[in-house]
Amino acid sequence: MIEHDIIVVGGGLAGSRAAVAVAQKYPHLSIGMVSKVHPIRSHSIAAQGGMAAALGNVDANDDWLTHAFDTVKGSDYLADQNAVEILTKSARATIIDLEHMGVLFSRDGAGKIAQRPFGGHTNSRVCYAADKTGHAILHELVSGLIRYGTKLYQEWYVMQLIYEEGEVKGLVAYCIETGEVEVMRSKAVLFATGGYGRVFNTTSNDFASTGDGLCLTAIEGLPLQDMEFVQFHPTGLYPVGVLISEAVRGEGAYLINDLGDRFMANYPISANKMELAPRDITSRNIDREIRAGRGINGGSYVHLDVRHLGREKIISRIPFAREEGMRLLGIDCIDHPLPVRPTVHYSMGGIPTNIDCQAIGLDNHVISGFFAAGECACVSVHGANRLGANSLLECVVFGQRAGEKIAEYAIDRAMPNLNPTVYKDAATAKIKALLDRTGSTRISHLRQELQDLTTAHCGIYRDAANLSNGLEQIQLLKHRYEHDLHIDDRGTVFNLELTAALELQSLLTVGEIIMASALQRQESRGAHSRSDYPHRDDRNFLQHTLGYLKDREIKITSRPVDLSLTQVDLDRFTPQERKY
Ligand code: FUM
Repeated sequence: MIEHDIIVVGGGLAGSRAAVAVAQKYPHLSIGMVSKVHPIRSHSIAAQGGMAAALGNVDANDDWLTHAFDTVKGSDYLADQNAVEILTKSARATIIDLEHMGVLFSRDGAGKIAQRPFGGHTNSRVCYAADKTGHAILHELVSGLIRYGTKLYQEWYVMQLIYEEGEVKGLVAYCIETGEVEVMRSKAVLFATGGYGRVFNTTSNDFASTGDGLCLTAIEGLPLQDMEFVQFHPTGLYPVGVLISEAVRGEGAYLINDLGDRFMANYPISANKMELAPRDITSRNIDREIRAGRGINGGSYVHLDVRHLGREKIISRIPFAREEGMRLLGIDCIDHPLPVRPTVHYSMGGIPTNIDCQAIGLDNHVISGFFAAGECACVSVHGANRLGANSLLECVVFGQRAGEKIAEYAIDRAMPNLNPTVYKDAATAKIKALLDRTGSTRISHLRQELQDLTTAHCGIYRDAANLSNGLEQIQLLKHRYEHDLHIDDRGTVFNLELTAALELQSLLTVGEIIMASALQRQESRGAHSRSDYPHRDDRNFLQHTLGYLKDREIKITSRPVDLSLTQVDLDRFTPQERKY
């Protein structure tokens, strides 16, 4: 059995920042980091536009309170305001700390950290490294992991969270390279496992974003919070779905329909902010244009036009967006507009935590030994709709906080007792059962069916009939997963089909909880738009959703989802109508 004081799962910004925080403050604690990809290949590397912080370098009067208000308003008042206060108050110090680590932020003419506008932010407050900000930050943090000697288990897949007697005691993981199964015991576990964009068929997320941490949590009967809030980023490159950064609109790009109109002006809710309205609003407007037949040539996309910015600005500020257009579509945005449409980008929901990143159970009690941070967590600073550039901030602020809190938790504790044989045998049997499947359904087909289903039934607009029907169909997919899966590769070494089968379980589980949560929320708020309930309903739904799997003793694929509601922290700003 492998042992560490602390195990961090996930090597992206939140996980790496947490591990570095532990190592900096408590060097005698042993940390193991488990990640199914090398940490530098975590999806955080793909973050582009920047990190919000009220430095005041462009708008001298900016301050954390304005940032907090923008964040809460952007969240459609579902964010927990105590958590938002921590996020926005810590932002300035966090940027300075990153800079001291060596992150190369872009500069303005006076040599100060440059800041650009972003959707829903009152001021120009987004700090950036051209349009490769995640890349710049993750490289420094991963260097930190190496510098502090963090033990990395890279390309290990976590199969189970060990949760017994009300306490998390470690996990079970298998090494993708060798197929070896190991029990890992620890005083505390931090999940920083990222999002689940691959539940949908068009996403900016990488192939590894399959919601594994969320699924592992749900399997233990623990709740997931606000899973109905799925962010569609307005500008996915059409048809591939990869991200064209909001930085492009921050630098002044136009959204244009087939009539040549900057159509954001035609919607009263976005007429003032135009292309820099928050993402939920902008995505809905693009979707409406397309549905009304005003997509380019009547197709499923609109144009993102930067030609008026000029070559020099495009090359210096948004080089990656240009590169993507050229590499993937052969379009150089210096001369031609880019085709875009909304793409699934971010999960506002996740593992509910308190402000110290401790996971919370159904009756609001803290789960001993279990922490979560970053996109897989719901602390909740984004509520029903995240503002761009608040995600990198959340990962670093709450990643660092998680590291400090988990270390304080672990420091005086003894290693928990557990029987490794039981867990190792169960995981080995699960792998064997998967490898023995001789059904007729290929993993890639079932995955595609799921992705098409969630996209069709739980997209930008939802309604009861579609969601109920989608849920019924997910049951059928789960049944086929259990009884009719086909696996060709029966080996143990780098068996990527086996990994894909395990990931598919995550996608099915998370997809079902998203849809069930969306069905229950009979209102429209932030990214959750119900055409049958078009208005926000604070009286009944100014609450977080908790979705969880019942009946722990029966097979995961047969377990029903149950739901309940829990309170939102509203200690500073009173909910108002959301207008821009
Ligand atoms: O558009 C972007 O660059 C994405 C930023 C974010 O999701 O925060």
